[in-house]
Amino acid sequence: MSFMHISFTDPTIPASGTVAAGIYAGGELSSAAKELDRLSNGSISRALKADRFNGDAEQLLNMIAPANTELERIILFGLGDKNNPSLLATENAGGLFAVKAANLSINAATILLDSDKQAAHFAYGAMLGGYRFDKYRTKEQSPSALTEMIMGSEKPEQAEKCFRPLLAVAEGVYITRDLIWEPANVMDPESYAHFCRSLTSEGLEVEILGEEAMRELGMGALLGVGQGSDKESQLVILKHNGAGSREAPIAFIGKGVTFDTGGLSLKASATMETMKQDMGGAATVTGLMIALAKRKAKVNAVGVLGLVENMPDSKAQRPSDVVKTMSGQTVEVMNTDAEGRLVLCDALTYTQRHLKPKAMIDLATLTSAIAIALGEEIAGVFSNNDELVAKVAAAGDEVSEPVWRMPMGSYFSKRLSSDIADMRNNGNKPRLGGSGVAAQFLHNFIENDTPWVHMDIAGTAWTDEAFPTKPKGATAFGVRLLDRMVQDYFEK
Ligand code: BES
Ligand code: MN
Ligand code: ZN
Repeated sequence: MSFMHISFTDPTIPASGTVAAGIYAGGELSSAAKELDRLSNGSISRALKADRFNGDAEQLLNMIAPANTELERIILFGLGDKNNPSLLATENAGGLFAVKAANLSINAATILLDSDKQAAHFAYGAMLGGYRFDKYRTKEQSPSALTEMIMGSEKPEQAEKCFRPLLAVAEGVYITRDLIWEPANVMDPESYAHFCRSLTSEGLEVEILGEEAMRELGMGALLGVGQGSDKESQLVILKHNGAGSREAPIAFIGKGVTFDTGGLSLKASATMETMKQDMGGAATVTGLMIALAKRKAKVNAVGVLGLVENMPDSKAQRPSDVVKTMSGQTVEVMNTDAEGRLVLCDALTYTQRHLKPKAMIDLATLTSAIAIALGEEIAGVFSNNDELVAKVAAAGDEVSEPVWRMPMGSYFSKRLSSDIADMRNNGNKPRLGGSGVAAQFLHNFIENDTPWVHMDIAGTAWTDEAFPTKPKGATAFGVRLLDRMVQDYFEK
């Protein structure tokens, strides 16, 4: 992971190099753009006409060697409606700018904005959109990345102050994306847990349970999934204590299947290819906890990661095996590829009994069906609590990580009846309502009506298409949403 260097100064136009400034919808110049237009004998006004660039959000214009100056170039970016300024549009402009600058082989740039908030959010967007995972490239990448951004605005100290918590979230997003991008021969349950140990340096409390400890707790469902793998399954507990010792925590539980072959219910090649992302829920929880720790959020939060590898092997569990969960309920494992819920159910029971949370949110790349229903930009949420799920949805809208609430109920629970155990792990009508059946399975493990939201991120954790603040690949969907939810509703 390489970080961009970002600094904040006065809105002074540099004598040389690359400078960028915003244009509002309708072609209205920002104050820096006006100044640049004056310095360059009206080049900007002429360029806007020549290019039909009108300042709409997500537009960019590259002006090389502007008249009358020593500048290499002026890059103009659209900021959208001036009267209804959106910081999300500013973040998108930053993300698009970072990619464009890299494509033009620009390593350093000065970006001028009208307000301190805009400067902070532009820089944040540039970090989110400019992310890349180059760790395994041994040859220099062309184009090389933008590494230095000087943000110019009035009140630069204010801009820097506004940027600090955003940087914490961006760092969390980077770690989540790195964890997901890492191939499964590098990121397995043991190495992932080992990485988590290092998070004490971020101020997180870290506890790790191996297979023996989990066997003592009776976590037969989680252990059954990892049973065909050489790697030891792990349960990682991350704690951030930012609100004193008496406050019950909010808990985030992540599915961490470091690779999902399907087990003996083996996946076909094409669908297996992308299964290193199956620890996306755990990675999102990890990045979120790091963000909360880095920005010293005034909240008590716990992250619980169920880390396993789902492999076929002579020791692997078989379709029709019966396992006993930590809750005491038994499950007939009819399909070893419906493994995420088996990991989560024991992690949920552990969380409730040992951490006593006031609310729980689980995140999982749980079902391909959720991507069929909602696509790759909207996550599905399922809940037993209208208030909590409304908070999740509101935070999602604010950071542009939208979620949509899906139904639960007996339509789905009756699909889980087993001939010999308390329930089966997959629906008895394959493919029908798969995401709801999976959510209903998890609901069987919620005790005392603890407020709970299940977020199915199987569609949103990975993208094949680049968006302004989400490059192709691991998105870290959920880190920004949950950080915002904590900030808006759970911090003191
Ligand atoms: N990890 C998969 C779901 C998934 C699919 C995540 C695509 C990301 C992208 C999950 O473990 C799985 O295999 N689910 C099955 C459930 C079925 C066997 C009941 C599915 O969705 O097909
Ligand atoms: Mn699976
Ligand atoms: Zn899976």
